[in-house]
Amino acid sequence: MKSLINITDLSVEELQLLMDKALDIIARPQEYAQSCRGKKIATLFFEPSTRTRLSFEAAMLELGGSVISVSGAGGSSVTKGETLADTARVVSCYADVIAVRHPLAGSARSMAKAATIPVINAGDGGHYHPTQTLADLLTIYREKGRLSGLKIGICGDLLYGRTVHSLIDAMSRYEGVSFTLIAPTELKVPEHITEKLQAEGIPYEETTDLEAVLPDLDLLYMTRIQRERFENPQTYERLAGCYVLDARKMRYAKKDCIVLHPLPRVDEISTDFDSDPRAAYFRQAENGKFMREALILKLLAEKDLPAAEENVYSDPRFVCTSKKCVCTHERGIVHEVYYDSKGALRCAYCDELIEE
Ligand code: NCD
Repeated sequence: MKSLINITDLSVEELQLLMDKALDIIARPQEYAQSCRGKKIATLFFEPSTRTRLSFEAAMLELGGSVISVSGAGGSSVTKGETLADTARVVSCYADVIAVRHPLAGSARSMAKAATIPVINAGDGGHYHPTQTLADLLTIYREKGRLSGLKIGICGDLLYGRTVHSLIDAMSRYEGVSFTLIAPTELKVPEHITEKLQAEGIPYEETTDLEAVLPDLDLLYMTRIQRERFENPQTYERLAGCYVLDARKMRYAKKDCIVLHPLPRVDEISTDFDSDPRAAYFRQAENGKFMREALILKLLAEKDLPAAEENVYSDPRFVCTSKKCVCTHERGIVHEVYYDSKGALRCAYCDELIEE
């Protein structure tokens, strides 16, 4: 059965079909009001969430289905020592699809391997967040009329910002896209992401200077500095507030340069910009619900199809030791690895390098 763990689990054609479906749901909501009658989504959120959980739940309710949920690590048997794999197996008996958010990279992947129903990654640590990308894509498509030929600026915490990693993986598959990655040196995008950009010959530049690059951008994706992922709180304090976009700075941007943000924002976008028509972030949050409806419909319709083949291996000599990875926390997990385009060995759960 198919799950959505990384945005690359969906082809460009599938992404387009999801956007078309979401647009049809927007145009004719009544046609879909009973589509998931008798179906349940289990939302398992082991980390805080407003938009993602509520939009999954609203999506299922608008399709005529229902919701069962666990929120907060304290609310489930995971605190009693139950593995995510066992939790997934059990929840498969009660629901038709799972949406899971968890602080460890690879957590959704490990659940998908054990579940007998589709699993949707609603954010696995600082790793990936593919359904936010679905919201981002529909927003770009609706606002700009296209996904190709765009100069995309991404600003803020590019190291821990999981939405950024999924967005880059998705947008780099469209023709004529280039990236300007704007971050403090300590928060540059992880190497497994730039490694793919280099392998595929996608143009990108890295800079610390937002104002210098702003006039060239077609789209600016702002992000929050991810306080909860820092090992050292002093590093967070030093970097907090490093970028603040406001109405004054946006005077130097193109007249049609849209601004996205996955939300929640802290102080990286001043509220004085909210009334500018280029501020697309609240429309983006709404688009997330429609794309989640389209995704739920697709996964339930395809539940009997096999999961996509992966080019991964398991070998007892190759073990992931990243503290942020599910592999170092989950009992009984089978470590899996793959070779990247430079021939380096990486963990299939978290994409970090494996020592050979
Ligand atoms: C994001 C997340 O959880 O990664 N929020 C969301 O899902 N819209 C972004 C963030 O928390 O900064």
